[in-house]
Amino acid sequence: MTRDWLAPRMADLGTNAIREILKVVGRPGMISLAGGIPAPESFPLDLIEALTRETLSRFGAGALQYEATEGFGPLREALVTYLAAAGVAAGAGEILVTSGSQGGLDAVGKVCIGRGDGVAVEAPTYLGALQAFSPYGPRYLPLATDENGALPDALAALIQRGGVKLIYLVPTFQNPTGRTLPLDRRRAIAELIRAHDVLLVEDDPYSALRYRGEALPPIKAFAPDHVAYISTLSKVFAPGLRIGFVVAPARLHQALVRVKQGVDLHTSTLGQALAAVYLDGGHLTAHLPKIIDLYRPRQAALLAALERHLPTDFSWSRPDGGMFVWGEGPEGMDMEAVYWRAVEHKTAFVPGKFFYTEPGEGLATLRLNFTMAAPEQIDRAVGILAGAIRAVAARRRGA
Ligand SMILES: Cc1ncc(COP(=O)(O)O)c(C=O)c1O
Repeated sequence: MTRDWLAPRMADLGTNAIREILKVVGRPGMISLAGGIPAPESFPLDLIEALTRETLSRFGAGALQYEATEGFGPLREALVTYLAAAGVAAGAGEILVTSGSQGGLDAVGKVCIGRGDGVAVEAPTYLGALQAFSPYGPRYLPLATDENGALPDALAALIQRGGVKLIYLVPTFQNPTGRTLPLDRRRAIAELIRAHDVLLVEDDPYSALRYRGEALPPIKAFAPDHVAYISTLSKVFAPGLRIGFVVAPARLHQALVRVKQGVDLHTSTLGQALAAVYLDGGHLTAHLPKIIDLYRPRQAALLAALERHLPTDFSWSRPDGGMFVWGEGPEGMDMEAVYWRAVEHKTAFVPGKFFYTEPGEGLATLRLNFTMAAPEQIDRAVGILAGAIRAVAARRRGA
């Protein structure tokens, strides 16, 4: 007899369809616009070598010892300044260091989501948040969006209907769309959550990667007691160090610490100590412009290539930062069919339907990443993508 070793909640996770289709991306010669990861050449390797030595001489064995669940003191202190620059006023005692922002998302899910609780998410949304929340059995409430992100009126209607336990948004350079919520919508959403006493999770991994335009204040700035603000050093230092952080309302903070303690006791002390030295030494200020200088031309190359190659019935986002551009074809276009055609010609992207909670949504959409390929490769890849689109469209017309 074979026993079922899995808990019933595993059934809620479904199959990982996106993982299955992206298996081919690692094939030799593939140009990938599918990834969502920083360029390896953006990591300051020499600097990290020097900082590791500095970290060990400054903190000694303390950099290798067990640490408080809340985080390594010097890093929490350094994050006070980092967060203030991002528009989040927080004392060191209000900051919880997590294993990436993903660790923060999991902790919030564990603490706040019960089976059947309504969780409002942008349609489309970040897949990793769905993976973090889904084990706790939420009922997703898709939030209508336009080219400027979530619509406050749609959120108001959802809240009015009742049953919104938590709202999850990526307001700046969203993954997957690259969209940024304008100031008036940030204020309107802050007002809504305050008025209805609803918790908002503001996931902000990308706002530091701004290539143009003025920075916007986070929603947290307008509703500090109703927003759990989550950010990370993954995109501005190195994701492998797994340094994320959460500034949650006081009524949530201790609960997050308690569940994190059960998960991993604390985030790697060495990584945290290294991050403290990186921030304290002003190295982020020196290094961030280099990351931006690497990505800006890649994004420009992608936007120019889309203009050059894509059929006129396609539209796409033109974000001021981040790592993604979102495209949409005419109704009826099957972007997964385009994907398979494009990978045959060694170009990969992510069909957009995987970022929706409702089946049948976003079939004609796609996410394109521009951080991992050089400008010439990007142009070639978009040319191949356009060829695949035309082939699939022709087959459809012929069918
Ligand atoms: C919106 C969003 N949130 C969270 C994460 C996870 O980042 P971290 O490396 O900090 O866990 C990502 C990573 O791509 C992301 O796009």
